[in-house]
Amino acid sequence: MIEFESVSKTYRDGTHAVSDLSLVVPSGKITVFVGPSGCGKTTTLRMVNRMLEPSSGRIVWDGEPLKSRRRTTLRRQMGYVIQSGGLFPHRTVLENIGTVPGLLGWDKTKIRSRSRELLDAVGLDRKLGERYPAQLSGGQQQRVGVARALAADPLVMLMDEPFSAVDPVVRGELHEFFLGLQRQLSKTIILITHDIDEAIKLGDQVAILRVGGRLAQAGAPQELLERPADAFVEGFVGKDRGYRALSFMPASAVELGSVRVVRDASGAGNEGPVLLLDGDAAPQGWIDPARGGHVLRMGALFDPQVDTLRVALDSALTSPVGLAVAVSRDTGRYVGVVSADDILAQVTEARAALDDPTTGTPAAAAPEGATPAGATPVEAAQADDAPVDETPADERPADERPADETRADETPAVHDTATAEEAANSTGTAAEPLEGDGPSDEAAPTTDVPPEGADEVERAPADQLLEADERAADEPDAR
Ligand SMILES: Nc1ncnc2c1ncn2[C@@H]1O[C@H](COP(=O)(O)OP(=O)(O)OP(=O)(O)O)[C@@H](O)[C@H]1O
Ligand SMILES: [Mg+2]
Repeated sequence: MIEFESVSKTYRDGTHAVSDLSLVVPSGKITVFVGPSGCGKTTTLRMVNRMLEPSSGRIVWDGEPLKSRRRTTLRRQMGYVIQSGGLFPHRTVLENIGTVPGLLGWDKTKIRSRSRELLDAVGLDRKLGERYPAQLSGGQQQRVGVARALAADPLVMLMDEPFSAVDPVVRGELHEFFLGLQRQLSKTIILITHDIDEAIKLGDQVAILRVGGRLAQAGAPQELLERPADAFVEGFVGKDRGYRALSFMPASAVELGSVRVVRDASGAGNEGPVLLLDGDAAPQGWIDPARGGHVLRMGALFDPQVDTLRVALDSALTSPVGLAVAVSRDTGRYVGVVSADDILAQVTEARAALDDPTTGTPAAAAPEGATPAGATPVEAAQADDAPVDETPADERPADERPADETRADETPAVHDTATAEEAANSTGTAAEPLEGDGPSDEAAPTTDVPPEGADEVERAPADQLLEADERAADEPDAR
């Protein structure tokens, strides 16, 4: 586990980027830092692989202060996915992925086979391996960034807005792929995002930061939705949290009803909703009562054994007859139907169960108070009959917008473009001269003093820097 102990970071110009941050990042889990632009997320991440040093406080990794670990060693144990991708443009995909193994001196055949294996792992076709980053889509580039960070099988993954530069559909796919990969790999992950939905979806633990790098609240996603600590968190998780909280409630308890089913659309009549099934009892569509024999498309389906109430509600809301159709995922067979009203009644029950018996205060009181016009979460969920992201972007506060939207219309963020320094560090090596890499506390600056020639480094193309870095890595470590 990684422990932040009263960590603060003040830049030389006096900017308080991070203030008194204390947090435990558990091993093998995903901790997401979320917060508005400029709230210190990247700064926090860069202190974990010692690209930056805290001004005060300390970070301890598995019982050992980071300062007592060599930077180069540390960075090779921590994969880093840079904000906005940061692939080396003049290196092929395979060469990009193989960067760290190359620096570690693996032999070429082993690097190639490891890089190919990683292409598979991140779901990219092997033939993309010979392409250059510019010949890939944004989503593919982000996968390559993840593959590169995984290349030397690091213990820790530091991911700075790894899925921000893609549209919501691709982002959704990347989320699924990422969660699947994490189920296999169980890395200790710190992931940064602007997007509260992404944080809630991916995080085992979510830490909400406010500007100045102050921790507003940390906890499991459900806890933040149900018990926001203050008005800032309430505002940040948004008025849709009643709806979002449904993501944590299983649909298994909903009582399913039944409708008339037919296997042949013709002659089904037009009395009430009629569901068309195929020969294997898999739902095909609803019979259109207005046009005999015509079949209306299915809404989304849900499986009560594995899905959440949110999926069930989506299913009801996308159904042309207002009924969610439940199927068994294994067999695809129809098992029953339920209306949006019945699903929401289930939510009311689940919420009632959260009431705190000792104080008599409903646990859901905080979320309720912040819904529009004092609506209960159930009412809010009823009112929110569209998925969260369909709220027009410009009606949402900047904090709630996906990063790519936020960026388009606001002051460019300091780290919008990956710097060459970051790119080099993503390869697991130090951009700073190695002599600054002593394990002792004296060697580590307490303020962010740039290394000699840092300005030059910032301007250098990533490749050039990498080569300089490779040379440095070949030299014996200066003690
Ligand atoms: N080298 C620096 N010198 C001075 N101030 C800096 C420096 N780097 C960052 N800052 C400031 O520190 C604060 C935190 O920056 P940081 O990059 O950590 O924010 P962030 O949360 O990652 O933002 P974004 O979401 O836009 O990426 C900002 O006010 C930023 O302007
Ligand atoms: Mg940032």
